[in-house]
Amino acid sequence: MKKALVAPSILSGNFARMGDEVKDITACGADWIHVDVMDGVFVPNLTFGFKMINDIRPLSDLFYDVHLMITEPHRYVERFVKAGADLVSFHIEAESDISGTIELVKKSGAKVGLAVNPDTDIAKIEPFIDKLDLILVMSVFPGFGGQKFIDGSLERISHAAALRDKHNKSAKIEVDGGINADNSSSIANAGADVLVAGNAVFGATDRRAAISAIRGE
Ligand code: DX5
Ligand code: ZN
Repeated sequence: MKKALVAPSILSGNFARMGDEVKDITACGADWIHVDVMDGVFVPNLTFGFKMINDIRPLSDLFYDVHLMITEPHRYVERFVKAGADLVSFHIEAESDISGTIELVKKSGAKVGLAVNPDTDIAKIEPFIDKLDLILVMSVFPGFGGQKFIDGSLERISHAAALRDKHNKSAKIEVDGGINADNSSSIANAGADVLVAGNAVFGATDRRAAISAIRGE
């Protein structure tokens, strides 16, 4: 299996002990920390904002991969970077000024990703790929952890990887939603460089073993 990075999503962590959860998955060998920000408008759920990121930032040296599931994210991207995001991904479906927001994230000093929902044509991201550090292919409809990996996502991942190879070989492909040790190798082989996993890590009795299994070790 191609070696992919594992980014546990703290959405599946215990919010009452989030600091301990961040320290625990760091100690358990996570590569990145995936931080799901939700506004209750773009997705039917609410999580946390700048202050959560600000407060957990000192607890881990890992790469903070912030996934914005919010409308018109250009309003807030600078504040997420200031709070400690190393990378900010936003949804192509949620932003009226995609290019401007990509530039804003980069100007703020972070890496930038563009996320695409399962019912959005992958080709829609093509005009922006040369400016991206990451393409986030959703394999569930965003809003909740613990959902099932949507069939047909493997073809979408390969399509995104092919467009990346054509336009910007340095950009990573990240896949998010329903990933576990049983499907992670097929997802990595389809082209994923980063695997987000919430339930499969936080719901495991042995989180270190779960992360290694998803990585294919
Ligand atoms: C869903 C989030 C995902 C989710 C992944 O809206 O973007 O990152 O937390 O959780 P699992 O791995 O349990 O599907
Ligand atoms: Zn996410």
